[in-house]
Amino acid sequence: MKFFIDTANLDEIQEAYDLGVLDGVTTNPSLMAKEGITGESNILAHYKKICDIVDNNVSAEVIATDYDTMMKEAHVLAKIDDKIVVKVPMIKDGIKTIKTLSTEGIRTNCTLIFNAGQALLAAKAGASYVSPFIGRLDDVSTDGLQLIEQIVHIYGNYPELDTEVLAASVRHNMHLIHCAEIGADVATCPLKVITGLLKHPLTDSGLAQFLADHQKGN
Ligand code: E4P
Repeated sequence: MKFFIDTANLDEIQEAYDLGVLDGVTTNPSLMAKEGITGESNILAHYKKICDIVDNNVSAEVIATDYDTMMKEAHVLAKIDDKIVVKVPMIKDGIKTIKTLSTEGIRTNCTLIFNAGQALLAAKAGASYVSPFIGRLDDVSTDGLQLIEQIVHIYGNYPELDTEVLAASVRHNMHLIHCAEIGADVATCPLKVITGLLKHPLTDSGLAQFLADHQKGN
């Protein structure tokens, strides 16, 4: 399973990259706003900075909701760097946009997926990734992981589909571990979820004991 970090914070992206396990980055307009990045030129420059840190797969989201403007925005985003994946919302014009971009060879991430039908449609349109939002489904008493399982199953029926399942809105370590069990292609999550995988108290106490025993004889 690929690990993407879900943030626009450059320090966090660098920290995850330095760990050596990072395969990409997802951003969204809320995450960009959280970092105080506003105005078209600043936004584009920030995406470039992210691309300069990681090896590939930087999702940058369009803001428009109509086909013509989404296409214009997508072309501007795609020109920033070959690492850019254009993130497009799951709406009617979004599907048309994904279809055209896929015929142009521009990679896309269809975002705000909340059911299997939406995931099927995005795959038919040629999306490179679909992003089902696990945590936001859990928030409304619907099993987000079950949706990941359903989409993985459906895509598995049609090996000719190139779309990857990108589990998004991953809130904690068990989400991440279950995504791997289910066979999600990618999971995107905050830095603390990635670094959370490091932790176990028996690791800490075991290491402390090893070091203490070594000290006694040296
Ligand atoms: C996905 O690409 C989104 O940016 C993100 O995972 C949403 O997560 P949230 O529900 O924690 O905001």
